[in-house]
Amino acid sequence: MSAWNLQAELTALKEAALYRQPRALDASGGPRVFCSNDYLGLAQHPRVREALALAAQVEGVGSSGAHLVTGHRVLHDRLAVALARWTGRERALTFSTGYMANIGVLQALVGRGDAVFSDQFNHASLIDGARLSRATVVPYRHNDLEDLERHLKTVRARRRLIVTDAVFSMDGDLAPLRELAEVAARHDAWLMVDDAHGIGVLGKDGAGTLSSLALSAAQAPVLVGTLGKALGTFGAFVAGSAELIEYLVQRARSYMFTTAPPPALAAATLASLELVRNEPERRAHLQRLVAQFRDGAQALGLPLMPSATPIQPLWVGEAETALVQSRALERAGFLVTAIRPPTVPKGGARLRITLSAAHSAQDVDDLLEALAKLDLP
Ligand SMILES: Cc1ncc(COP(=O)(O)O)c(C=O)c1O
Repeated sequence: MSAWNLQAELTALKEAALYRQPRALDASGGPRVFCSNDYLGLAQHPRVREALALAAQVEGVGSSGAHLVTGHRVLHDRLAVALARWTGRERALTFSTGYMANIGVLQALVGRGDAVFSDQFNHASLIDGARLSRATVVPYRHNDLEDLERHLKTVRARRRLIVTDAVFSMDGDLAPLRELAEVAARHDAWLMVDDAHGIGVLGKDGAGTLSSLALSAAQAPVLVGTLGKALGTFGAFVAGSAELIEYLVQRARSYMFTTAPPPALAAATLASLELVRNEPERRAHLQRLVAQFRDGAQALGLPLMPSATPIQPLWVGEAETALVQSRALERAGFLVTAIRPPTVPKGGARLRITLSAAHSAQDVDDLLEALAKLDLP
């Protein structure tokens, strides 16, 4: 068979229930969505939409160039300053996406002769960034400090970087960040934390998981946050010392060699940041929904996973079963995507339910009622 027989591979994916298709949603209606990352319900907020539209009227749409050429605008600076202040770091640098932030930071900070110690459940962008960096990649068992420390004792390298999600994207559980920072300090390593799912949701003013634990830039030098989830817009940032950020400006290829994001997007994020900081009731409502969902799911005997965050996956196991259950939910009017390998390990398929401050208590009750009718393991 020709090596170019792509159809054979596509067919194999279908047969293994691993084929994926984008689902086109329509803002004017459709199923109730319980799998988005819009945790605070800000993607549709009138003030965020208005900020985007007004700024586009003044600034135009495209930035027309890379940050270091002609694409950088005052709005980008304003956003970076606001993000640094919010997260309690000296400086921040915005990137077009979280994926690009992670690969850019990893490529900039480590290379041949260095080592990246990476939690086995880390997001794909961290895994890809570590691979692209050409550093030695040392995976450690999920949240297992002993395993990490064992590797740190044996792997010699010039720079050693421990990399972890703060809130694991497909599990919803938290990394033991305080302990990881201590391990890092003991071994002269740096800690890089991807807080894509904690930023906006956890901590005082929603400033994220590191802020909720009062971990300083000395303890966790590299903080990555995304803007397309709880902030409801698009993009990402890295926050840290002024020196780190200056280094990334000079070295992060995914910052240097790409068109800067539309400046109006920065205006939208600034508006959404105001809402995140000044309306703590969104987080309080969200936490109540999480508790309501967990209590209800427990009472129904559903296969909950140990998570206290808005990411509340239900363990299914087989990819095929997850797909069947996801389709049944959609027929009942709820969109919950089936998460299957390679996003999660083989045999670890799940329904990744996420809650949002845009949901009501009634929405959660209705979802529980639909879940009760499923045939879950
Ligand atoms: C933990 C984590 N990091 C990074 C990303 C990538 O962010 P973005 O969607 O902005 O590329 C995601 C999800 O998309 C994520 O879940």
